[in-house]
Amino acid sequence: MAHPLEQLRDDALREIESASDEQTLEAARVKYLGRSGSISAWGEQMKSLSKEEKPVVGKLLNEVRNAVTAASEKRTAGFRSQKESASLGKIDISLPGTPHQIGALHPLTQMWERSIEIFRRMGFALADGPDIEDEWHCFDALNTPPEHPARSEQDTFYLPDGRLLRTHTSTVQIRTMQAEKPPIRVISPGAAYRNEEIDATHAAQFHQIEGLCVDENVSVADLKGALEFFMRELFGPDTAVQFRPHFFPFTEPSLEVYVKSKALKGGERWIEVAGSGVVHPAVFEQVNKARGDKGYDPEKWSGYAFGLGMDRLAMILFDIPDLRLFSQNDLRFLRQFA
Ligand code: DAH
Repeated sequence: MAHPLEQLRDDALREIESASDEQTLEAARVKYLGRSGSISAWGEQMKSLSKEEKPVVGKLLNEVRNAVTAASEKRTAGFRSQKESASLGKIDISLPGTPHQIGALHPLTQMWERSIEIFRRMGFALADGPDIEDEWHCFDALNTPPEHPARSEQDTFYLPDGRLLRTHTSTVQIRTMQAEKPPIRVISPGAAYRNEEIDATHAAQFHQIEGLCVDENVSVADLKGALEFFMRELFGPDTAVQFRPHFFPFTEPSLEVYVKSKALKGGERWIEVAGSGVVHPAVFEQVNKARGDKGYDPEKWSGYAFGLGMDRLAMILFDIPDLRLFSQNDLRFLRQFA
């Protein structure tokens, strides 16, 4: 003879199957599975059963509860999907959709990421510094005292309190050395500012990647090796790199870096892309004074530094004729780099 629980299960399944709407189904669910439903009541009765009966009935009760729960959930899902397809039926899927606008990285950001990736492989870490600087970090610490003519060549925008928008990212060299002991190997991409007459190749805000390497026995050969590697990774293996003597107050010797590559449009001429040099001992002395120690003893440590013009590099790499395109937000221009 069937156990009364089996009878209960068959009744429940029949009611669930025949429920014609969600309310009837819910009523059946409560009737059997609800807190005071008839299947739940069996759970209460378990206490009064004998030791032998308990496991047998317990097992059956579980099976019954699972079967009824599964059947009720299945029908709930059925009602739900019926409702959904009924409402979707009113949608005309042949209507054209709203086109999705896909964004892309700005060419300067792409340039930035490519460069960081190359320097990262060479063991350079990222360093950062503020765009609003004090004169000491921008000039004095970089061996450019107030009366120095190099200072007037880099006119910039001053705040009423005497601070200024940094004219180059070289400020981050100083900030890094103040904060950390040698050896140092960092790059710092960021914006720089000058009070320029704006034209196709000059902007009041431009972008640089500063580099600084300080260690024992660092020479101009290390500088040349690092920058040649970088330029060839960026512009291709046929890129020629030339170093021309120049003057920067914070390096000695100082070199300007030029590239030429057949792979580039207009690549048959030399294009200036960076300033660089071997860190001037006077810079180390300024840093020592600020640190209050001999952390950068010029007798022990030497270094090279460079400042790459990022806008210039991007103009060469992507064959962009006018610097102003970078900041005009013209989608016809930007879409070409998507
Ligand atoms: N700060 C220089 C500029 O903006 C570029 C530069 C030259 C950076 C030589 C350096 C360097 O680190 O060593 O014109």
